Amino acid sequence: MNLKDLYIDFFISKGHKQIPSAPVVPENDPSVLFNTAGMQPLIPYLMGQTHPYGTRLCDYQKCIRTIDLDEVGDTTHHTFFEMLGNWSLGDYFKDESITWSYEFLTEVLHIPTDRLAVTVFAGNNDIPFDEVSYNKWLSLGIKKERIARTIEDNFWIAGETGPCGADTEIFYWRSEDEIPEVFDPEDNRWVEIWNNVFMQYNKASDGSISELPKKNVDTGMGVERTTAILEGVNDNYLSSIWKDVIELISKISNLPYEGNEVSMRIIADHLRTAVFIAADPAGIKPSNTDQGYILRRLIRRAIRHAKNLNIDINSNWEEEIAKLLLDKYKGYYKELEYNYNVVLEVLKNEKIKFNRTLEKGLREFEKATKDNQNIDATTAFHLYDTYGFPIELTVELATEKGLTVDVKGFETKFKEHQELSRTASAGKFKGGLAGNGEIETKYHTATHLLNAALKVVVGPDVHQKGSNITSERMRFDFSCDHKLSDEEKNRAEELVNKWINDGLDVVREEMPKEEAIASGAECMFIEKYPDIVTVYSIGDISKELCGGPHVKNTSELGRFKIKKEEASSAGVRRIKAILE
Ligand code: ALA
Repeated sequence: MNLKDLYIDFFISKGHKQIPSAPVVPENDPSVLFNTAGMQPLIPYLMGQTHPYGTRLCDYQKCIRTIDLDEVGDTTHHTFFEMLGNWSLGDYFKDESITWSYEFLTEVLHIPTDRLAVTVFAGNNDIPFDEVSYNKWLSLGIKKERIARTIEDNFWIAGETGPCGADTEIFYWRSEDEIPEVFDPEDNRWVEIWNNVFMQYNKASDGSISELPKKNVDTGMGVERTTAILEGVNDNYLSSIWKDVIELISKISNLPYEGNEVSMRIIADHLRTAVFIAADPAGIKPSNTDQGYILRRLIRRAIRHAKNLNIDINSNWEEEIAKLLLDKYKGYYKELEYNYNVVLEVLKNEKIKFNRTLEKGLREFEKATKDNQNIDATTAFHLYDTYGFPIELTVELATEKGLTVDVKGFETKFKEHQELSRTASAGKFKGGLAGNGEIETKYHTATHLLNAALKVVVGPDVHQKGSNITSERMRFDFSCDHKLSDEEKNRAEELVNKWINDGLDVVREEMPKEEAIASGAECMFIEKYPDIVTVYSIGDISKELCGGPHVKNTSELGRFKIKKEEASSAGVRRIKAILE
């Protein structure tokens, strides 16, 4: 059995319910491009909302962290990874959490206690030393020399604000060397494998810390890293997770892994992440903004490295690799099955597009650097604009030759030529928390009203295709085969405002998924919902499967105004609207 199955079985035996992995693209959370941790989709529940599955949950969650994208190529970095997690929502706390982690590691995975070490929170002005965790570890048989107390690394929060708390991290001795008596967390032969966060606080935007309504546990264990450790390999890409992928790349390129590791790892990692982004219910396509830009960068960088390996780019190499990945994971993630062909199409189309210009672009790059000149902003922008070279690719090519790129100058040019891409703000890659403030909540309810109004005005075939909310505006994508007329826009706007003025109650219910669908509740991606779902109804005009949060009554919304209606993609229109 593999690690994922062992983990889920173990926590089910401890009274947990398995919840499905949320999509990689978070909904209604404009602060992050992707889910970066298992807890991210659970934020409303960690903040106090009741979860339909109860108070003990476990899962494996798809995560994407693009902050390390350029590091990929070494033995340990990945842009996509699976995080195993178990949660207590106001149920058990430190005692059971630590006991079960220890039991799983030593009795299920058979790791000898001597190879383990832990850190606990040392205490600061706000929060005291975590004596309970310290004593618990001692009682389980971890020697005191193997329990380090730290401050910085033992307080966990996803971004700047939100649920947080002291944590205890578990380390494994990943080396043939003799295990030192005293644990030094800075010694990188000790690798962190599991993090148990005791989420008992909420950090507000002014930096103040308050107690959450309930004490929760949030844990995270990386599948890739732990699998590599258990299998005793020092290069993650040699573990059973990657071995077949690397072998296939080696077969396609007719080259050994040894000596070609970097390009092979980049191709394997980037194509796997691209497969998961392209398969996501959010329907992301390669583009020059947001998630679409990450998808584009990943595919183009993989293509560039395939070229390094002299793979015939025009062959179906990417399809072969993608199929292996899809087959490997589709048993765990249903969207890979539903969107199997979509993924292959996305990869192929982007490949064809980039192939047209890659060769010429590379020649242009060689010409520009033939006397070892650094790349100025004009050249970098030319490579981007004419040959589709993401700036990161130009930087990578330049770095390989020991040259630099005027990235700042490029960005200025980029902004001059295009609306500022939101992806450009590096902050978005760092992770952050859901914008579940009062204003975002109002906008969220407004999307349901707009969805219902469009069904009345345009027709019952209108369905939501996506939404994006910030504290300034909402964006709503819906299926529709024509540009809305002024009359249609006005009528939709009037209808939403009428419903706001009617002061309709917003009611939240939990019910089995089948019952919800049978009752006619609207839902965007049926496959991603658990068996028990939350349904929000607004008067008798709207009923949708949705995680919330929502206002209690539509009268809270203010005045609704459509600012813009435009095409989003084939058969999909986009409305931007505000609440005044
Ligand atoms: N949320 C915690 C982490 O990502 C468990 O490390």
